Amino acid sequence: MDAFELNKIAGAVLFALLILFGAKTATDLFFRAHAPEKPGYVVAVTEGGGEQAAAQAEPEEKVDLAVLLASADAGKGERVAKKCVACHTFDQGGANKIGPNLYGMVGSELGAVDGFAYSNALKEKGGTWDYEALDAFIANPKGFISGTKMAFAGIKRPDQRADLILYLREYSDERPPLPEAKPKEEAQPEEQSGEAKPEDKEAAAQEQKP
Ligand code: HEC
Repeated sequence: MDAFELNKIAGAVLFALLILFGAKTATDLFFRAHAPEKPGYVVAVTEGGGEQAAAQAEPEEKVDLAVLLASADAGKGERVAKKCVACHTFDQGGANKIGPNLYGMVGSELGAVDGFAYSNALKEKGGTWDYEALDAFIANPKGFISGTKMAFAGIKRPDQRADLILYLREYSDERPPLPEAKPKEEAQPEEQSGEAKPEDKEAAAQEQKP
């Protein structure tokens, strides 16, 4: 047997392996693609598990804007405000650009800047730019005023919005007082907090067992 023949044999073996694995992968793909829509078995979920899942699905507790504002940093807000300066000026007497001048916006009425052509949506919304309204608008402009012409996606991070609002507040004469943090219900002793959560009940039930 010379080297040439050995090469041929090795080649044939490799080729056979290639076909074999190729076919296996093809069948795998074929059968995966035709997997049944409903699995042939049902996973039994115990009641406890369901309760747990429900507890986990509860939305996260919303962070109080007042709490965020109390620890916000106007200096950081200045950096966040870079996202606004393409369309807005902050200085007193600053020009209206694509958006209105924002001096004195905190506490002012919606759509009150002279000489700016607001959208009808904003004009019809009415109300005051209090801290909550500003927070909601900056988080999601079109969510707060559907039809606003402020083409800005919004700032998703609540702490960044609080920094920005504190910065914006510096550009005003009146500087309305910051909202006071509502006392937290969680701080109260459990007996007073009304209905017990399912986990508490479970825990209590387990404690009572001998
Ligand atoms: C792409 C341009 C653009 C950007 C970026 C932008 N805005 Fe605006 N903004 C506008 C326009 C346009 C309006 C007017 C909206 C209307 O009339 O519906 C507006 C309106 C507003 C108003 C309401 C003004 C009033 O007089 O009632 C506030 C407050 C505001 N913007 C804050 C911000 C802040 C804070 C940022 C940065 C996070 C920002 N905007 C980023 C274009 C922009």
